[in-house]
Amino acid sequence: MQVFNPPLSILQEEVLKGLKQYPKQLHPKWFYDDKGSQLFNQITTLPEYYLTRAEKEILTTYHSEITSLIQPNASLIELGCGNEEKIKLLLSSLRWGNRYVPVDISQKALNETVTKLRLSFPLLDIIPIQADYTQAFSFLGNNLVEPKIVLFLGSTIGNFEERDREVFLKKLAKYLNPQDGLLIGIDLIKSTKVVEDAYNDSQGITAAFNKNMLHHLNRELQTNFQVEHFKHHAFYNHKQNRIEMHLVNMKLHNVTIGNETISILPDETIHTENSYKFDFDEFEQMLHKVGLCMRKIWMDQQRNFALTYIKKI
Ligand code: AVI
Repeated sequence: MQVFNPPLSILQEEVLKGLKQYPKQLHPKWFYDDKGSQLFNQITTLPEYYLTRAEKEILTTYHSEITSLIQPNASLIELGCGNEEKIKLLLSSLRWGNRYVPVDISQKALNETVTKLRLSFPLLDIIPIQADYTQAFSFLGNNLVEPKIVLFLGSTIGNFEERDREVFLKKLAKYLNPQDGLLIGIDLIKSTKVVEDAYNDSQGITAAFNKNMLHHLNRELQTNFQVEHFKHHAFYNHKQNRIEMHLVNMKLHNVTIGNETISILPDETIHTENSYKFDFDEFEQMLHKVGLCMRKIWMDQQRNFALTYIKKI
């Protein structure tokens, strides 16, 4: 397993910067320690969380059309692979000469996924990379033979801010050659109730996932958030077409990070995630800005979600 991680001091600085902002912010990548990845896997099976079901429906219904885009010697690089549930729907059609390169920040999740896939697809060349994929581009560019199909599923692109999304896609476009392709899953704009329910599930799994970020920071960066004083809050922001997730503090307390102490006031919120919902025009415009264009779109029957096939212009 190849590992590619930034030093602790940089991570501490990043977190401190977010906590000094108003409103306070933490990057959603902090959701994904081992426990967080496990909670996210649970979220993907919840009745309210339609995204994964819709994307699996697309991968199943349009399986042959999608896999026909993968050339015989292509590498399939999946950014933020998570568990094997979705990718196994495509891997069954790969041939000798193809390779699968899963990239994920969580070592445990990556190990589990790869172990299962190696059992199911013993002849497939699998090269796992443990990394924060937003930091790993030079690594991907230097180590992988062409041609490649990069997969970015689950509407994780919706967790980027507009500017970061553009920077990310621009970097990605730089590593794509004309014969390469990009498969990106996007969640579409729809009824507010459907979306809000998906992020406020009745079993409280999303709430646990949100709060787990603070446990992760307490362990990884030796902070001392009093997690029991926070509650989960998720709502749809119509102006921005996004679900916002926050942690609302209920009791004044101080949090130490490195040599600094930050006070968190009662009712103060920490903004932990945005999950943008898209329409095709807006998505296409953004792709054009970075030198990419949509070649194909597949949707689930309810038109909740889309898988897009993208190439360099
Ligand atoms: C990973 N990402 C696409 C999920 C989403 O829907 O934005 C993360 C998530 N947050 C709460 N539930 C799921």
